[in-house]
This record gives sequence, C-alpha cells and structure tokens, in this order.
Amino acid sequence: MARHEDLKGQVAIVTGASSGVGWQSALRLAEAGVKLCVTARRRSALEQLRAEVLQRGGECRVCEGDVTVQEDVERVVRECVAHYGRVDVLVNAAAVQSYGHFDQLPWEHITRVFDVACFGYFRFARAVLPHFRKQGYGHLLNIQSMLSAGSAPLLSAYAAAKHATLGWARSLELELAGTGIQVSNVLVPSVSTPMFDHAPTMLGKKPVPVPPTYDVDLVARAVVRLARRPGRTSVPAFLQGRLMLWLNAVAPSVGKALLGRYGERMQTTGTPLHRPEGNLFAPVAEGVGPRGSVPPTPVWLRFTATLGIAALAGGVL
Ligand SMILES: NC(=O)c1ccc[n+]([C@@H]2O[C@H](COP(=O)([O-])OP(=O)(O)OC[C@H]3O[C@@H](n4cnc5c(N)ncnc54)[C@H](OP(=O)(O)O)[C@@H]3O)[C@@H](O)[C@H]2O)c1
Repeated sequence: MARHEDLKGQVAIVTGASSGVGWQSALRLAEAGVKLCVTARRRSALEQLRAEVLQRGGECRVCEGDVTVQEDVERVVRECVAHYGRVDVLVNAAAVQSYGHFDQLPWEHITRVFDVACFGYFRFARAVLPHFRKQGYGHLLNIQSMLSAGSAPLLSAYAAAKHATLGWARSLELELAGTGIQVSNVLVPSVSTPMFDHAPTMLGKKPVPVPPTYDVDLVARAVVRLARRPGRTSVPAFLQGRLMLWLNAVAPSVGKALLGRYGERMQTTGTPLHRPEGNLFAPVAEGVGPRGSVPPTPVWLRFTATLGIAALAGGVL
C-alpha cells in the first residue's frame, strides 16, 4: 500500500464542499498542503470556503456544478486538470437524504437520493479514472456512512444508496488492484453538519441525527489520515463506529431492537417544520459552512452511552 505522508503539492477534487464534511475535509487537506478544486451547486458558499483556504495559505479553485449533470462533472475534472496539471485525490462527499416512511417518500425523492448520493460518486469516479490510469496512480476517497453497513428507519432510500456506494467501492478496489489506483472509505457516524438543516422531510417535524452526534472535524481528520495512507476503510468513531459494528456482528438483535423501538423518536424533534423538498432538487440558502444547528453530544454523555451499550452487550452474550 503506497503511502503519501507528505501531502504537500497533491491535488484533490472535493465534492459537496459548500457545507459539512466536504467543507471541513477541504480545509484540513489544505492545511496539509493539498491544492484544492472544490465543487457543489452553491458558488457563493464555495467562494467563502476558498477565502478561508487562502487565509490559511492554501490554494483553492472553485468549480460549481451538480453531481447529477454529466457535463458538469466532466467540466469540473477538466478544469482541475487544466489548472493544476493533474488530479491525485477525489473526495466524494456530495449527498442528500430525505426523511419519511418508505411508502410516503415520493418516488422522485428515492431516485434523486440515488442520483446524487450514489450515481454522483460513480460519475465523478468515471471522470477521474482516465487521468488516474494515465498517471499510474490516484486515490478515490469515498465519504460513506455507518448506514453503508447498517440501517435506520425514516432513511431507507439514503441507507440503500449508501450500501450501494460501499459495495461499489469495494468491488472497484478489487478491480483496480495492481494499477496504483487506490480506494478508501470513511464510515461516518452522526456528525453535526448542516445536513439536518436542509434535508427534506415528509414528517412535518425537524429531523436530527441519531445520537450521539460527533464534531465534523473527526471525519475531516480521518480524511487527511486516509489521504496519507490510502487503501483502507476508516471508522473514526468508537461508540457509533467500531463498537456498533462489533455489536451488530455478534448480537444483531440489540441494534435492531433499539432502532426498531426508538429509531424514529431519536431522529425527530417536536419542532414543526414544512420542508418537503429541502435541498434535494435545488440548492437552498440554509446550511453553509462545516457545522449545522445540532450540536455534538458532549463527550461525557458519549462515554456514559458507551458504558451502557457495553453493559447491555455483556448482558446479551
Ligand atoms: N452528517 C451526518 O451525520 C452524516 C452521517 C453519515 C454520513 N454522512 C455523509 O457525509 C457526506 C457529507 O454530508 P454532510 O453531513 O456534510 O451533509 P451536507 O452538509 O448537507 O453536505 C452535502 C453537500 O452535498 C452538496 N450537494 C447536494 N446535492 C448536490 C448536487 N446535486 N450536486 C452537487 N452537490 C450537491 C451540498 O451542496 P450544494 O447544496 O451547494 O450543492 C453540500 O455541499 C455525505 O456523503 C453523507 O452521506 C453524513
């Protein structure tokens, strides 16, 4: 597995960079010396990110575009290669979700979630792969989710799209073995990004992430570690990460019982909200920058929950 401990001078395209994980990962990569090409639909947000990167002494090119539009995707990659001469890393982060019971979700929401969160990853990968093959190296770094390996009520289409991208990434990894092109994944826990401030909901109530919620920087730091040592799957959180994967493997009935009984309640608040489309089909003003309105769960609470789940697991085994 090739290492790139010194990232200085590498070139990365970061999708979904106008908010959340994409924004924070771009900032962290820039701090590590990576030259950026950032993309999303909201140009003004990308310009704000660019200003922050420049302030920190980094290099950043803004190329707005929609990941569901093939010409946009090809243009972003073309502009990046024309400007920097190459592309070393693709960070696939752009995604949307839609809250609702499966049979209440409009069909267009289901297909759109796949078009952005799954086919958007495929489109960008297909656009950079010819360059990677020509160079004899390259890194496809995919922002996945704990839902790529798990499940949750109210997010069936999103979970399905995330499962699909993980299956795709793992197959691609095998296909690319020996080419010098590497594939990495980050299984992201609930993070306090603006995703919950602009996601559509059929429920009429404000959605929130399944607790505990982590700070987005946990993921951004994992992205930088993967950029240095590609070809791995990173699980940056302990409780909503390594412990949960282990628990699901040894006692799947625990997670099923908890999420089956409390999953819907955990993901909704009592705050009424009419947002049937959110940022699904067109960008919205809400939710610029790395962090959203739901704060991360305090560390001591996470610690208590860890002990609780460990005790529960002990009781079940
Ligand atoms: N937040 C969490 O709890 C969580 C948990 C697990 C995994 N993740 C994963 O983390 C990644 C980033 O999510 P996030 O939490 O950072 O959400 P976010 O803040 O909503 O960011 C999503 C990004 O995708 C962009 N986007 C949406 N539709 C697009 C389209 N059609 N074309 C181009 N860009 C589009 C958005 O920008 P524009 O609107 O400007 O286009 C935005 O920059 C996703 O892959 C998500 O699945 C997040």
